[in-house]
Amino acid sequence: MNAIAGLYTATRAQLQLKSANVISSIASRTRAIGAICESSRYLAARMHGAMTDPNAAPIVELGAGFGSVTQLLPESAVSLELEEERLNYLRETYPNRRVLDECAIQFVSNLQEPTIVVSCIPSVNNPEFARLRAAVAQSRQRGMITELVTYTYFPTNNPFSGIFSVEQLAGLEVRNVPPAFVWRYKC
Ligand SMILES: C[S@@+](CC[C@H](N)C(=O)[O-])C[C@H]1O[C@@H](n2cnc3c(N)ncnc32)[C@H](O)[C@@H]1O
Repeated sequence: MNAIAGLYTATRAQLQLKSANVISSIASRTRAIGAICESSRYLAARMHGAMTDPNAAPIVELGAGFGSVTQLLPESAVSLELEEERLNYLRETYPNRRVLDECAIQFVSNLQEPTIVVSCIPSVNNPEFARLRAAVAQSRQRGMITELVTYTYFPTNNPFSGIFSVEQLAGLEVRNVPPAFVWRYKC
């Protein structure tokens, strides 16, 4: 019973809810962002920890959302977000950052220098993911992606398989709703 109460509280915290309406919020957020809720600070820290050098540059963050990962990245990082509420939040909260209202797929396709990519774009139930994957493959071939870190909810889902010479399941974070697996890809 305590475990269920703990999970419920964690879900409310991740959703940043004041009310107890967890179920309807989960449903609407899943439709809106392709994930059950924003990453917990524990998952964000695990993604950050999976980066070989989190202070290197340039770094681009795809799908910054409400900034769980953004806040851990260096100020030089560029963060992309399309959804208006999240974009406004990021710009207000991180006025010194480059927060761009730009599509991750176009941005990755047009990379002009070797870049570290941190992707929070969902790979399941996302009709655009195949295009993002193709853009990553093409930019990787041009030598424009040196490392990519992302997360999935299933260990069998390796979203960027076959693109990089090194692909590693870098960790499992259970303090997230749902628990998530962090992936690191390198040349
Ligand atoms: C699963 S949320 C992740 C949010 C946050 N980074 C986190 O980990 O909690 C995915 C985010 O990607 C954004 N997004 C989806 N497709 C995108 C695209 N093509 N370009 C930029 N952002 C996109 C969504 O608006 C959403 O905020």
